[in-house]
Amino acid sequence: MIPQKTAMHEHQHQDLGFHPLRNKLSFSRMVDMASEMGMENPLFKCHEKAAKATTIINGREYINFSTYDYLDINGHPAITQAVTEAATIFGTSAGASRLVGGERPPHRALEQALAAFYGVEDCIVYVSGHATNVSTLGFLFGKKDGIFHDGLAHNSLVQGARLSGAQRFSYAHNDCDALEKLLEEKRDECKHAIIVTEGLFSMDGNIPDLPRLIALKKRYNCLLMVDEAHSLGILGATGKGVREYFSIDPTDVDLWMSTLSKTLCGCGGFICGSHDLVESLKYGSPGFVYSVGMPPIIAAACRKALEILQNEPERVKKLQDISQYFLHYAQEKGLDTGAAQGYAVIPVIIGNSWVTGFLSQQLFQRGIYVMPISFPAVKEGTARLRFFISASHTKEHVQKALDAVCEELPNAIALVQNYQEKHGAISL
Ligand SMILES: Cc1ncc(COP(=O)(O)O)c(C=O)c1O
Repeated sequence: MIPQKTAMHEHQHQDLGFHPLRNKLSFSRMVDMASEMGMENPLFKCHEKAAKATTIINGREYINFSTYDYLDINGHPAITQAVTEAATIFGTSAGASRLVGGERPPHRALEQALAAFYGVEDCIVYVSGHATNVSTLGFLFGKKDGIFHDGLAHNSLVQGARLSGAQRFSYAHNDCDALEKLLEEKRDECKHAIIVTEGLFSMDGNIPDLPRLIALKKRYNCLLMVDEAHSLGILGATGKGVREYFSIDPTDVDLWMSTLSKTLCGCGGFICGSHDLVESLKYGSPGFVYSVGMPPIIAAACRKALEILQNEPERVKKLQDISQYFLHYAQEKGLDTGAAQGYAVIPVIIGNSWVTGFLSQQLFQRGIYVMPISFPAVKEGTARLRFFISASHTKEHVQKALDAVCEELPNAIALVQNYQEKHGAISL
């Protein structure tokens, strides 16, 4: 019986096409090879408390550089209280799509607060940040249109552009000259066009030239969308994001997108913009219309987190100070921080993926938790340790981590070289 069952099970999987999933294969291959080399799987580690500047894994405390809790707001007692109150009244689920099942007061309260924070007319909140980008771009644009996006735009933006069926033009990362050339050549072929960028790039920690992008969008009659997943709460003197950093008029950007899963400590995403845009998304965007409303407890949590961000700008200052300290300390130590500008996301670029993996493991053994990022998430040969900084990191945390990187790097290189001497060259 058992062999028969297994065979049927495998057959079903093959029919459904689960086996050839490329990502899983490349991850499995990487994890298998890594384990042959004596490396632990760094993925899916289970944290036993809210993962903040420190975390607990298997009962041991680690300095944590893998949290999006940039402003150290997650777990704030005022948020727990807001969530408890909302749960008491509304339970934990919105029950159905807001369009048909109706809304709860925390939904509009959050949207109105976000629109006011951005200084624009309206806002729509989706249940997922990733789905916000996919569904918004997928719905608003069609095959006669053109989407001009940064070469390092997040997967969700690229997926949305693909779904839309519009012509997709990827310009060299943060290169406005390259974008202008593309617009010059291709804009006239497209009925509607949009330029898509991020407020702070999630792999490199650098900032786009937003004033120039605004000038380009005006000259070439395009819309402009900025994904502020990593810049909301991080950039600008009071954390208002990339518009505050450059002191620009918020209405010069047509779609302000951000996730609720990072600075705002919840889950979901939103688009802030004109009332007409938001109404159109509310009645048409499939990821909103055909998806359940955000749990009211999450809306209440994010609303409270936004309030904390606005009332306590000292958190933003703390984050900016410690991020700048991290950047300068890393540079003094001769580490390659690429294009990072010292705002919450700072890579230490190692190059070789295997060396980066081993380095991350050795740091883990020394009580430092930082994720290795390699191809396909970044270009081949630019594997890195990606440090997410939080306002509650201290100079001691930073020194301890970066000193350990410098001490362990030669060991990680030696490990990979030894393996290669015994088994031949390895590649991903
Ligand atoms: C730039 C960017 N946009 C969108 C998303 C998706 O957001 P979420 O993880 O909240 O779904 C992410 C996630 O990391 C991101 O980095």
